[in-house]
Amino acid sequence: MIELLNVRKVFNVGSPSEYSAINGINLHIGENKVAVLKGPSGCGKTTLLSIIACMSRPTAGRVKLNDREITSLPERFLTDIRRKTFGFIFQQPNLISGISVLENVMLPAYPLGEKRAHLKAKALNGLNELNLAPKAASKIEWLSGGEAQRVSIVRALINDPSIIIADEPTAHLDTKLSYRFMEIIEKFKAEGKTIIITSHDPLVYDSAMVDQVVNLRDGKIEE
Ligand SMILES: Nc1ncnc2c1ncn2[C@@H]1O[C@H](COP(=O)(O)OP(=O)(O)OP(=O)(O)O)[C@@H](O)[C@H]1O
Ligand SMILES: [Mg+2]
Repeated sequence: MIELLNVRKVFNVGSPSEYSAINGINLHIGENKVAVLKGPSGCGKTTLLSIIACMSRPTAGRVKLNDREITSLPERFLTDIRRKTFGFIFQQPNLISGISVLENVMLPAYPLGEKRAHLKAKALNGLNELNLAPKAASKIEWLSGGEAQRVSIVRALINDPSIIIADEPTAHLDTKLSYRFMEIIEKFKAEGKTIIITSHDPLVYDSAMVDQVVNLRDGKIEE
């Protein structure tokens, strides 16, 4: 499903602050698998995740998605693939203040042009699944940390992505909510989705549902 071939990422090429964050990574992640990218702070987890999810391009090497080489596609194709294939759960929930929980959840679906009534029903259903139905009309700034995290999960799923990308999803959750999050991941897996998570949380990478743990250090995979 996802294949990286000798991927490198160098930031600020040619300037004194040039930094080589990813140093030749070969990786295969199969369909309907749960993979965890793990390793110390600064080892390149978020950088690698953003390359996998078509959010940034590698400096060298190739990325294949479903046997299709995506590395050199023009930006508009990448944007399209990103919207239709991936759901993102970020380290910080990145929700938009001043508008409601429901509006936040619906936002990523607008570019795809779905009917508003249908979209709204889908969003409310998603909120309901994560016990957030009573908060649909609340503004983001009124939510607790765990609620905000759950809203970001519902938002990540609104376009029914086949691949879910989560960057340190449990970093701001207590133990109970972290287990709840892993239950949600298990449900996605049962639905046939592929899940890629970065984490240094043993509750995540030691979980029985994880198929593949990738240990990163200094932008390389440790054997
Ligand atoms: N845009 C950028 N410009 C320059 N350096 C960057 C940039 N983005 C990331 N880096 C550097 O690349 C390295 C890898 O960063 P990355 O965010 O991938 O680490 P990480 O493994 O996700 O760390 P953490 O566990 O703290 O989230 C770091 O040293 C970081 O400072
Ligand atoms: Mg990170």
